[in-house]
Amino acid sequence: MEKNYKRTLVTCALPYANGPVHIGHLAGVYVPADIYVRYLRMRGEDVLYVCGSDEHGVPITIKARQQGCTPQDIVDKYHKIIKDSFTGLGINFDIYGRTSSEVHSKNASEFFRKLYDEGKFITKESEQYYDPEAKTFLADRYIVGTCPKCGAEGAYGDQCEKCGSTLSPEELINPKSKLSGAEPIKKKTSHWYLPLDQYESWLSEWILEGHKEWRSNVYGQCKSWIDGGLQPRAVSRDLDWGVPVPVEGAEGKVLYVWFDAPIGYISNTQELLPQSWERWWKSEDTKLVHFIGKDNIVFHCIVFPSMLKAYGDGYILPDNVPSNEFLNLEGDKISTSRNWAVWAHEYLEQFPGKEDVMRYVLTANAPETKDNDFSWKDFQTRNNSELVAIFGNFVNRAIVLTHKYFDGKVPARGELLDVDRETLAEIPVLRASLEKNIEGYHFREALKDAMSIARVGNKYISDTEPWKVAKTDMARTATILNVCIQICADLAIAFEPFTPFAAEKLRKMLGVCICAGIDHRKGEQETVNTYKEGEGAAIHTVSAAAPMEASSCPGFGKCVCLNWNMLGNTDILSEGHEIGAAELLFAKIEDEAIQAQLDRLDAIRAEREAAAKAEAARQVAPQKAECSFEDFEKMDIRTATVLEAERVPKTDKLLKLSIDTGIDKRTIVSGIAEYYAPEDIVGKQICILANLAPRKIRGIESKGMILMARQGDGKMRFITPQEVLNNGAEIG
Ligand code: MF3
Ligand code: ZN
Repeated sequence: MEKNYKRTLVTCALPYANGPVHIGHLAGVYVPADIYVRYLRMRGEDVLYVCGSDEHGVPITIKARQQGCTPQDIVDKYHKIIKDSFTGLGINFDIYGRTSSEVHSKNASEFFRKLYDEGKFITKESEQYYDPEAKTFLADRYIVGTCPKCGAEGAYGDQCEKCGSTLSPEELINPKSKLSGAEPIKKKTSHWYLPLDQYESWLSEWILEGHKEWRSNVYGQCKSWIDGGLQPRAVSRDLDWGVPVPVEGAEGKVLYVWFDAPIGYISNTQELLPQSWERWWKSEDTKLVHFIGKDNIVFHCIVFPSMLKAYGDGYILPDNVPSNEFLNLEGDKISTSRNWAVWAHEYLEQFPGKEDVMRYVLTANAPETKDNDFSWKDFQTRNNSELVAIFGNFVNRAIVLTHKYFDGKVPARGELLDVDRETLAEIPVLRASLEKNIEGYHFREALKDAMSIARVGNKYISDTEPWKVAKTDMARTATILNVCIQICADLAIAFEPFTPFAAEKLRKMLGVCICAGIDHRKGEQETVNTYKEGEGAAIHTVSAAAPMEASSCPGFGKCVCLNWNMLGNTDILSEGHEIGAAELLFAKIEDEAIQAQLDRLDAIRAEREAAAKAEAARQVAPQKAECSFEDFEKMDIRTATVLEAERVPKTDKLLKLSIDTGIDKRTIVSGIAEYYAPEDIVGKQICILANLAPRKIRGIESKGMILMARQGDGKMRFITPQEVLNNGAEIG
């Protein structure tokens, strides 16, 4: 049952500050969340939008070690890059905090302490790997060894990156500490655990009974965790980077990153709203929605809710946890360590003014129900044949013609024909669908609805041809363009969540602004009036008291304020309203720009393949089963010289060689064409197995075999004596 909430708290997974964000993060979490928030703001809802950097955890300490700096240096660097990327893409959180902040440290520490004091944890002693030289416990990631599953070197204590197997450090063959290279020893240590098993039936009732409406991937993961039986989970670690465990005798221990990070949502809210944060976290009137990627489901649906439940004190639980599958890039899994990604900050630099295009493409291709692929060709096509050819083209024609025939003033609407009425009637239908889709977290479908409004407009103007009608009937032309301008205004509303930069441009062209809900960015419930005389396109923020009353908008009376409720009205802009100059909403993306991206990815792929080949070349095949001296003696191995060589017609691999064996002259067919050109080997001395039984290969009788050395990567070379000998010399 849909509850009647008064406000919405939207959180986005806190990105780890150990690298920049890429399109996978954007498509999975931040773009959909931003669409949702912008939509609610346009509806005048009270929304708080919270995110921040996740600045603890082992990967950050590893990165610092690799780069020879401190973990703080790493998080400072990436916090800034990530924050700027979000801003650049129009993803404007009310607060973007950091888990290394003082507020958070205090907050997470107090959270732990309360659960500790109330006996909500159990302690367990376990044996953990310890580096006797570096004198420190080793996180799984700090232990490397041979993978027991695939035999690859350099597998981590938690995962083999080669074969993808999940591992535990105990399974590694020949484990070594990454810190000192020493062999780790087992040492006793004690940690605090949250006994999730005690929350199992409560979780089951809350999620499995109470939230059947959650996306099937989310619900399914929760179900399989709960059905599989929940285990106590450690909430502390032996590590020197993180929030210290606030308990006597816990030296060298910090809170586990997945314990402290979600508390970061609360800390960041407190930082922004020190007086009123509880309204957002402890009121049944607040709808809490966590946007996350699928690898975060268990933490947001099972662990964090159990933490909040254990804490009590009125904390609310999420109403929904929309979580996406993964996005691939050009058919390959996105991977930070393999540099297989499109990085947000690089995109913003390379495609200035095209923030909306990425938002649009990532939404149109959002991996909502299954993994999906991003390709640069598709990116180009969606820009050129959807944004430019449909949305941009329609708006441009409508605005330009209104200037041309009516001096930039919305013309009067005369009697409506069927085509006008039918066109206008389509908008409310699309609006209803759009709303239903956004509210149900189906952003791909919602975008299709918005795009359908542009299609309706584009078709209408093409069918009615006002540029032709103008030659004979100005009144009819006026009616057509009036309808077109209303549809432009619809687009300025409907696209605000998806392509906010274009929506703003369009508002400027139309000479209107928007009412955008309550702005919490400035802190305590402050209402900000960004309206400036003569700048009609400013975003107005409205008061909490009367969210959507036009009269409560600070720009009331001075400009036309659009809000969501106007979408589909047939008289958004009235006769005589003055519009601004036409500007192109979207520009075509040329092949060169796309090719540059493909070239960049090809170079990365080539580099990776070369590295894989070098690795394969180093692999040595295991020794074969023993053979007896007699077995060996049967083989007659000789020196010989190549007299002639030619390719065997219609084959890629075969050379036909004429050989002087010292015994005779004969033909041997050999599969070495990939490695030697015929002209390069004539005259070379080689070794052959002379007494191999003759066989016919491609109709040619081949007597004997050329001896070759073959590397792990398949590369082959002749075996040639150190100095030239007589042909027919016996080898053995
Ligand atoms: N840093 C985590 C990740 O990128 C997400 C943390 S979400 C939070 O997967 F809830 F813990 F904050
Ligand atoms: Zn492996």
